[in-house]
Amino acid sequence: MSFSVARSVMSSARVASKAAPFARSALAKPAAFRAPVQSRAISVTSRLSAKNEVIKETEVPVSIYSPDGKSTSANPDQFNIPVKKGSAAAEASAEDLANADVIPLDPKVYKSLPPTLQKMSVMGKVIVVTGGARGLGNHMAKACAEAGAKALVIFDANQELGDEAAEELHRKSGIDVVFFKVDVRDGNAINAAVQQVVDIYGAPDVLVNSAGIADSNIKAETYDPAMFRRLIDINLTGSFLMAQSVGRAMIAANKPGSIILVASMSGSIVNYPQEQSCYNASKAGVIQLGKSLAAEWAKYDIRVNCISPGYMDTAMNKVPSLDAQKKIWKSLTPQNRLGAVDDLNGLCVFLASDASGYMTGSNVAIDGGYTLY
Ligand SMILES: NC(=O)c1ccc[n+]([C@@H]2O[C@H](COP(=O)([O-])OP(=O)(O)OC[C@H]3O[C@@H](n4cnc5c(N)ncnc54)[C@H](O)[C@@H]3O)[C@@H](O)[C@H]2O)c1
Repeated sequence: MSFSVARSVMSSARVASKAAPFARSALAKPAAFRAPVQSRAISVTSRLSAKNEVIKETEVPVSIYSPDGKSTSANPDQFNIPVKKGSAAAEASAEDLANADVIPLDPKVYKSLPPTLQKMSVMGKVIVVTGGARGLGNHMAKACAEAGAKALVIFDANQELGDEAAEELHRKSGIDVVFFKVDVRDGNAINAAVQQVVDIYGAPDVLVNSAGIADSNIKAETYDPAMFRRLIDINLTGSFLMAQSVGRAMIAANKPGSIILVASMSGSIVNYPQEQSCYNASKAGVIQLGKSLAAEWAKYDIRVNCISPGYMDTAMNKVPSLDAQKKIWKSLTPQNRLGAVDDLNGLCVFLASDASGYMTGSNVAIDGGYTLY
């Protein structure tokens, strides 16, 4: 295990710096329509024809019950807004997202926020993110930095990417970022690293476990048992070892905490068309692990929840051999796209925040609707 700190004041540390061709493709749904309502629209009406068909309005009547005293509920302001054609869901390019600024929540701005929004921040929290060197974990780490985290701690097996990610996050956000080169299969290294975090910051408030690998297009009848064991070791045992170590630190410090395990929709459904029994089994295990820990640790005020992404547009899926399958994945996804690398950010911050204080043992899908079919 090695670690580096990207922190202005720690100069002694190294600054990190289903049948084909696919019949169901016709099921692709049109993009959702959103009326361009700019104000407090209270009532939006529509009529149904005798055949129960939707009449496409060109204007939407709006009634506003305003608190400014000008209008009352007996006499609302009424006008029409034009209806624009719906557009396809915007797909931000991965490059744009990678280059985007990380703007940390200013404490003064935090103080000026209404209580609901304050609760939805992670102000002052120390957050450990595994797999934070790239992909979904990296973007969730950036989101936590923007939502007020005091420090981000990245655990990742990739030294080079981890150092780069820590340096970049620190440079862009100005907050403390510590990188530990840790393999989530290595319990002793995890414990040593978590102890180091405790020594620097006290027990972490949040763990986001995003480290994971995927093997796919491997038929069960030819699956090499050694590969099977390796994946289970990283995805499932790794989730356990990380949760155990961080959970112990939270318990020892008598500190409430939030543990977020990145599972997958593959833990609840079987993907199509590719065979990937081991990955699916590993993620089903992560979901059940999360529920079990949630039940056990509620008495310590430690919450454990899972995020289950659908197909996301990350390096994990940027493999030429998957191109043909991606078309099928999209056709099976009501939103007709892969998830963007930052599509987990909002839920991650919410689950890390006190706003989700009564949520534990849940498994939330973010899959563009894939699991609806
Ligand atoms: N991308 C998807 O479509 C998708 C869908 C559902 C779930 N997920 C899950 O989301 C998580 C993140 O996926 P991603 O797409 O960002 O992947 P990614 O490959 O871009 O990033 C994974 C990160 O985990 C690190 N890592 C891998 N093995 C490790 C180990 N043994 N110890 C420590 N770090 C390790 C890698 O170095 C990398 O930085 C994974 O758990 C994955 O199973 C991804």
